[in-house]
Amino acid sequence: MTERAEIDNIDKAREAEILKAEHELVWPSPEIRTNAWVTDYEALYKQSLDHPERFWAEQALALDWYKPWDKVLDESEKPFYKWFVGAHTNIVQNALDRHLHTHRRNKLALIWEGEPGDTRTFSYHALAREVAKFASVLRSMGVKRGDRVTIYMGRVPELVIAMLATAKLGAVHSVVYGGFSTEALADRIEDAQSRVLVTADGGYMRGKIVNLKQTADEAVQRSGYVEHVVVVKRTGHAVAMESGRDYWWHDLMNLPIASPRIETEILDAEHPLFILYTSGTTGRPKGILHTHGGYQVHVATTLRWVFDIKDEDRYWCAADPGWITGHSYIVYGPLILGATSFMYEGAPNFPYPNRWWQLIERYSLNILYTAPTAIRGLMRFGESWPQRYDLSSLRLLGTVGEPINPEAWRWYHRVIGQGRCPIMDTWWQTETGGFMIAPVPSVALKPGSATRPLPGIVVDVVTEDGKSCGPNEDGLLVVKRPWPGMLRTVYRDPDRFVEQYWSKFKDRGWYLTGDSARKDDDGYLWVIGRIDDVIKVAGYRLGTAEVESALVSHQAIAEAAVIGVPDDVKGSVIHAFCILRAGVQTPTEDDVKAHVRKEMGAIAVPSKITFVPSLPKTRSGKIMRRVLKARALGQPEGDVSTLET
Ligand code: WT7
Repeated sequence: MTERAEIDNIDKAREAEILKAEHELVWPSPEIRTNAWVTDYEALYKQSLDHPERFWAEQALALDWYKPWDKVLDESEKPFYKWFVGAHTNIVQNALDRHLHTHRRNKLALIWEGEPGDTRTFSYHALAREVAKFASVLRSMGVKRGDRVTIYMGRVPELVIAMLATAKLGAVHSVVYGGFSTEALADRIEDAQSRVLVTADGGYMRGKIVNLKQTADEAVQRSGYVEHVVVVKRTGHAVAMESGRDYWWHDLMNLPIASPRIETEILDAEHPLFILYTSGTTGRPKGILHTHGGYQVHVATTLRWVFDIKDEDRYWCAADPGWITGHSYIVYGPLILGATSFMYEGAPNFPYPNRWWQLIERYSLNILYTAPTAIRGLMRFGESWPQRYDLSSLRLLGTVGEPINPEAWRWYHRVIGQGRCPIMDTWWQTETGGFMIAPVPSVALKPGSATRPLPGIVVDVVTEDGKSCGPNEDGLLVVKRPWPGMLRTVYRDPDRFVEQYWSKFKDRGWYLTGDSARKDDDGYLWVIGRIDDVIKVAGYRLGTAEVESALVSHQAIAEAAVIGVPDDVKGSVIHAFCILRAGVQTPTEDDVKAHVRKEMGAIAVPSKITFVPSLPKTRSGKIMRRVLKARALGQPEGDVSTLET
C-alpha cells in the first residue's frame, strides 16, 4: 500500500470508530461508583457554578496555610489573575511537612524501580529529610527565593528531591526533560538564567546509558550563566568533572552543610513555584509559570476527584517528572494527598514487553495513568504479555496527552482493566496546571471522550467569532472562567502570555486552549487536536519552529519546514522538507536525523526527510505548512490565493 493510501485508511478508520463510540456508554461498577470521592458530579458542578469563589475556597481549606487568604480571586489586572491573595503558604508545607505530624510519617511516599531492576523506597519522613538536606546544599550555593534552578536528569528519586528542595527555599525549578539534548537544554538554561544545574552522570534507557553529563556540559558551555553543577551518580560511567564547578550529589549530601534542619520558606500564595518550557506556535519554547497557592489547590483537588486515591492505594503515573503530568501528578498532587506513588525509570518494553505488567503485579499497583501512545505501543505486542500477570490489583486506569482512539481505549479497558477498571481520560495542558476535562469514577464514560469539565471549570466549544457551537459542530475549545491552577504568565514575556492565550477573545476574557473540539448530544467533549503549529508526537508536544531551527543548524540545510502526519502508534510523526544550501553535497537522511537527535533529542527526530528545491510560501514569506501537509496526504490544497507563485 502506498503511504498516502495508508494514511487515508487510518483517517477513515478513526472517524468510523469515533462515531460508534459516541453511543457507547460505559459505566463504572456500582462498587467503584458508590465509593468514589465524588458520587454526584452534577450536584457538585452546579454548586461550583453558583458560587465559584466559595467553591474553590472550600477546596483550599483541605490544605494547610501559614496565613489564610484575604481574597480568593483577584481579577483587577486580568488576564494576570491572582488566587488566594494575601495567603502565606509553601507547597512543600502541604506535600511533606504536614504529614510528618501524622501516621503518614512512616508511610511510603515513593517506591522506585530502576531499569536494571534496582529498587529504592522513601517514607514521608525519609523523603522530607533528603529534601531538607538538599535544600541546605542549594542554599550553601547561594540559591535563594526567586532564583531559578535547572534540573536535567532521568526518572530517578533525586529529580523529585531536587524539585522539592528548590520549592522549599522559595526558588523556582525549571525541569528539562532528560530526553532533550544540547540545544534544547541550552535554550532553557539561558531563558531561565539559571546559576545552578542539577543533573546526573547518565540514565538507563532500553539497556543503554544516556550520557546526560556530556550533554549538560555542552549546554552549559553554550548558554553561560551556570556556576554550579550538581551531578547524581546513577550509572557510574566515567564522566568529566570540572573542578570548582561540578560536584557529586553524594559528596555534597555527606558534608555538614547538608543539614536536615532548615525551615520551609513562608511564601506569598502567588510566589513562583516553577517554570516549565513548552512548545507554542512560533519561535522559542515558552516558560510557563506556575505559583504555589492556586496550583497546589488545583492539583490536589483534581487528583482526588479523578483518581480517587485511597489511603492504602499504590498509584502509578508512568509519565516523566520532566513534563507537567509528572510535576502535577507524580510529585505535587500525590504528595499533598499523602499517597504512595510508584515511579519506574525505564521503557515499557525493556528488556521484554512484559515489564509494566510485571511491575503492576510485583508492587500490587492500584491505579495506572499513562498516554495513548504507550497503550498503542504495548497493544502491538498482543494480549499474551499482560495475560501472564496478575493485574487484579488495578482499580482505575487513566490516559493523557492526546485523544485516545476508541480501539486503544477498549483494549486498555478489556485487557488491562479486565473490564473492571474505568478509564479516566484527562484533558489538560502544561498551561492549565491540572485536569480540566475529565470524568470522575461515578459517571458514564465514552471511549475516546474526556467526558465533561470538572467542577469549577467552565469550558465551551465556540466559533471563530465566539458563538457557542451546536451539538456535533467542530469549534475552538475555550475556558470561560479563571481556575486556580492556571498559568500566571510566560516567563519574562508577559506580552506573549496575553497575545497567545487571551487576545483572541479579549473582550470576553476567555482563555484560548489552541485545541479544536466538538460536543456531542449528551454534552460530552471530543477533543480533535491542535489548531496551531504544535505537533503531538507520541504525546510529546513539539513546535514546528523548534524542530525547524534544529534542522537549519545543520551546515547543509538552508531552510526547513516540518509537518505532522498521522501514525498508528505515535498519533503523529514528523515529516521534514529541507532546502539545501547552494553548492553543498546532499547529506544522507540519517546524517540529518543524527543532527536533530543531538540538538533537540530523539523525540524531535523526523521520521522522514525530503530535500526539495523550494517550499510553498505566502507572498509575505510565511511557509504554508497547510499546503505541504495537503500535498503529503494527497488532499486538496484549499485556499491558496496567498501562495507565492
Ligand atoms: C495538549 C497539551 C496535560 C499533560 C500532557 C500534555 C493534548 C492532552 C488530552 C486528552 C485529547 C489531549 C491537547 C492539549 N491533550 N490531553 N486527554 N485528549 N488531547 O500537556 O504537552 O501541554 O499538551 O495535549 O492538544 O492542548 P501538553
